Amino acid sequence: MKKLFAVLGYPIGHSMSPIMLNDVLSYYEIDAHYHPFKVSPEELEIAIRGLKAIGISGFNVTIPHKSAIIPFLDSVDDLALSIGAVNTVVNDNGKLVGYNTDGYGFIKGLEPYISSFSDKKVLVIGAGGAARAIYFTMAKMKPLALDITNRTVIKATELIKACPFESNSRALSLDEAEVQLNEYDVVIQTTMIGMYPNVLETPISLKKLNNQALVCDIVYNPLETQFLKEARQKGATVQNGVEMFVYQGALAFEKWTGIFPDVKRMRENVLRQLE
Ligand code: ATR
Repeated sequence: MKKLFAVLGYPIGHSMSPIMLNDVLSYYEIDAHYHPFKVSPEELEIAIRGLKAIGISGFNVTIPHKSAIIPFLDSVDDLALSIGAVNTVVNDNGKLVGYNTDGYGFIKGLEPYISSFSDKKVLVIGAGGAARAIYFTMAKMKPLALDITNRTVIKATELIKACPFESNSRALSLDEAEVQLNEYDVVIQTTMIGMYPNVLETPISLKKLNNQALVCDIVYNPLETQFLKEARQKGATVQNGVEMFVYQGALAFEKWTGIFPDVKRMRENVLRQLE
């Protein structure tokens, strides 16, 4: 019988996941369909019950449901629980199990550049939901340093305190981060700053950026944010948000099918959708 996969969000119309994942489902000849469903926060619980009742094989959840879904699942893996957000659900013999592939998706996207973080100093910019997934997962990689800078410093301090994995971390103001920027090997921009239509905004000045650094932005619209443009002009290696998007989807696909898909194919598909 044809399997069903889905993504639940509100809104959901602009999700690139259906085209990206239906393509790899058919590429690997898996008899399944991945469908977007617009589900309001009020209807989330009933939607989850319905999906469970019809025996859905697995689904993604996106904004605004990533935290709200947790009480409606049968179990949640430890990392997702500590992050407090689920983006991928697997139907394991009738039990809905929640995972978070955002953080590992981000880190897998860095594999072409970084195999070990043990000698790397990392700076995370931002302290919202995306920062939390990336920071907690990155803490498991045990980098030499893992600092957070945020406009509201107390939120960075709280994020560090909330992380169950030990890490050498400091919370910095944006000004402090700018001054100390040359210390970092990896800089990760996790806020929506610079996203269309505010394309000229950047979170911090890159004046002191180390030109050997790897600078990442989770934004993919535009593909090159002003922040990445400035980093590239300083000679840094840059990576946009397409990689995290593609790899979080690839890891979800692997959890559902046991196949780690062709990420090059997925990336090309996403880039076509963004054209
Ligand atoms: P998400 O869950 O998508 O990561 P969020 O929880 O609203 O979003 O977090 C947004 C992040 O962007 C926060 O780190 C926020 O900083 P504050 O904690 O100080 O609010 C940051 N942010 C948003 N707009 C910003 C701006 N104009 N300048 C600096 N930081 C900004």
